Amino acid sequence: MLEDQLIVKPLPAAGMSAAAISEELARIEMPEPYAHFTRAFRPPEDVQQVAKAAFQRFMSDNGFFSLYLPYMQRIEQEVIAMGVSLLHPTPTSTGNFTGGGTESNFSGVHAAREWAKVHRPNVRRPNIVAPRTIHPSFQKAARYLEVDVITTPIDANGRGIASEIAAAINSDTIMVAASAPTWHYANIDPIPEIAAVAREAGLWMHVDACVGGYVSPFLEKLGVQLTPWDFRVPGVMSISADLHKYGYCLKPASTIFWREAELQQYHYVAVEDEFIGTYKLAGFAGSRSAGPIFAAWAVMSYLGEEGYLRLTRRLLDLKARLTAGINAIEGLQMWDAEVLPLQFHSTKVSTAAIYQGLADKGWLMLGLVKPAAITLPIDPALTDEAVDQLLRDVREVTEHLNKVGGGPDGNIRYA
Ligand SMILES: Cc1ncc(COP(=O)(O)O)c(C=O)c1O
Repeated sequence: MLEDQLIVKPLPAAGMSAAAISEELARIEMPEPYAHFTRAFRPPEDVQQVAKAAFQRFMSDNGFFSLYLPYMQRIEQEVIAMGVSLLHPTPTSTGNFTGGGTESNFSGVHAAREWAKVHRPNVRRPNIVAPRTIHPSFQKAARYLEVDVITTPIDANGRGIASEIAAAINSDTIMVAASAPTWHYANIDPIPEIAAVAREAGLWMHVDACVGGYVSPFLEKLGVQLTPWDFRVPGVMSISADLHKYGYCLKPASTIFWREAELQQYHYVAVEDEFIGTYKLAGFAGSRSAGPIFAAWAVMSYLGEEGYLRLTRRLLDLKARLTAGINAIEGLQMWDAEVLPLQFHSTKVSTAAIYQGLADKGWLMLGLVKPAAITLPIDPALTDEAVDQLLRDVREVTEHLNKVGGGPDGNIRYA
């Protein structure tokens, strides 16, 4: 938060010159590598250039018309079709382009609620059952949609427990949600077991793969064994997957996928307006830039399978280097992560104090409050030099605190 909030700033009387504007904006520093993790998830420079060129060409076009303008509809549909191809789709699986993970999860909850009106007509006050680690965007969607969220215990590795979910389901439950993976523990919930519980109870099952949706398929292709979580798991009805995370696309860009095309009808809201007729759009937003849609198409087309595999190999390499580097520092422990992001904590001194020490050195880090951890949302734009500097700074801060003692003070911020 800004300390000195501007209450009123008059517009410049005469308007600034383009040169003065670019000069002023050029003075805004984005300190690298210190701000790297707040700028995740970026691909290498060449991919960014392709994305930005496509974004720039179409950013003034209105994505409002994506269901109606053939040139835009084709590109949006191709993004969806390429995305769904990664998820072991059924012959009719499809999806929608959204403005981020929050909107994708909102869309899942909304569709489930509309579906339940038809398939669970006796529900009075709908609820969702999900492990405690479910992303806060579900609570947010639930509030907008007047749905309750019932959260269930997790195991020692931060995974949801199918029997706890089964026990929490009641006659007002409409949906079970779980993550692949969670942000907090980077582990995939036991989706096959949880989906079986949802199926048995006749409920909508949503998988939040916002973090993993565009990286897990490539990890698997590289031979990494992962808990199955996509449409190959019976009962999974919708999946959210963020293009602007490990899809490496420009924000805001995400996808919500439906197991069968017929489920998509619960997503759309068609308003019959007295003056303008049928008002039906692709998603929650009205007018929106078409830039992210075209940029996503450009990135997916430019990288192709080979490109995503190459960037996934780089992630595995970074994960191995950072894990070895952090674990080599006395008292630090990198958490086991089935997917990503990485998290580490201190077993000797306060993790919050280490977080603060890094902040004092200029690092803008993400973290978890409880259990305390420092989060590394690594991406392929992270250079070897940045990794070396981070490890040097973490070592210096930690060794100093190990000597003088780091109390519980400090302020870890999620963001
Ligand atoms: C598991 C998970 N779901 C959903 C979201 C929300 O995504 P967004 O910030 O794009 O709305 C996040 C964000 O980090 C996430 O980690």
